Amino acid sequence: MNLKTLHDTALAMVASGKGILAADESTGTIKKRFDSIGIENTWAHRRAYRDMLFTTPDFEKYTSGVILFEETLFDKALDETPIPKLLAAKGVIPGIKVDSGAKPLAGGAADETVTEGLDGLRERLEKYKAAGARFAKWRAVISISDDSPSDYAIHVNAHALARYAALCQEADIVPIVEPEVLMDGDNDIEACEEVTDVVLAAVFSELYAQRVALEGIVLKPNMVVSGARCSEQAGVAEVAERTLRVLRRHVPSAVPGIAFLSGGQSDELATAHLDAMNKAGNLPWKLTFSYGRALQAAALKAWGGKHVDAGKAAHQHRAKMNSLAAVGKWEKALEKVA
Ligand code: 13P
Repeated sequence: MNLKTLHDTALAMVASGKGILAADESTGTIKKRFDSIGIENTWAHRRAYRDMLFTTPDFEKYTSGVILFEETLFDKALDETPIPKLLAAKGVIPGIKVDSGAKPLAGGAADETVTEGLDGLRERLEKYKAAGARFAKWRAVISISDDSPSDYAIHVNAHALARYAALCQEADIVPIVEPEVLMDGDNDIEACEEVTDVVLAAVFSELYAQRVALEGIVLKPNMVVSGARCSEQAGVAEVAERTLRVLRRHVPSAVPGIAFLSGGQSDELATAHLDAMNKAGNLPWKLTFSYGRALQAAALKAWGGKHVDAGKAAHQHRAKMNSLAAVGKWEKALEKVA
């Protein structure tokens, strides 16, 4: 393990005013996105769509890295340049999703899962590294309901996250450590804060136990928000305050940066929340975005399978808004101008 390489890569992933594009939807997940615009889920469409995202004007100005699905890591852009090469030539770091998804947890509650993908991971990481990947992602999923999460679900997911992270660092690949507390329940924001609190405590305890160097990771957490089905929705200031409180309690300052997932928040709220936290200032780590849906939803709709320039314009706008939020310089009025 080369700690300097890991640390330098992690710092570059959270460089000022830049964030990470999560374009690592599995073939099943991208089908759901394409279904929403009536596009067939073919390799040609996936390739054309991702080519559009990666060739957006000013992409490299706002984007430090891209999380790819395995198919895309080994794919070529429309001009036949290998995708990792196209990204690296722009100074954008290629990354790879390495987990194989959240599967039902044996003996757990109905909505509890454990993320799989550790078998053969050491060998896969070598293959991904040879293809140009310099960081990886593993997403653990924790739901909130009357029956969940159990300590059992939290523990097995934290344990797997740390095992993944240790294997990545052995290969000089920066692990994005993603413990996602889902925001789709009817719980209030207080419950989200409580669960996020215990989940982060478990994750950092496992990272320590499994000798993961915190200087060489990027944390990708959920924000502390009200459940989507909760009748009372907390405002931007409350989300920022609660999220920062829980992060300050659990994330050591050795961690170079935190890149949030968007988790189903609307595009503009995901931007506003990030901006409010950065406006608060005086933070021990960089705070940026690693959004999937909140960066892509508008671009996907504008593209609709054929309008490449419109798709790029929508993507460029969202990337720029989030880049401003990553330094606390976003204003709502900038959305109106666009
Ligand atoms: P969302 O921003 O759509 O939550 O996706 C981010 C991600 O990479 C989830 O693993």
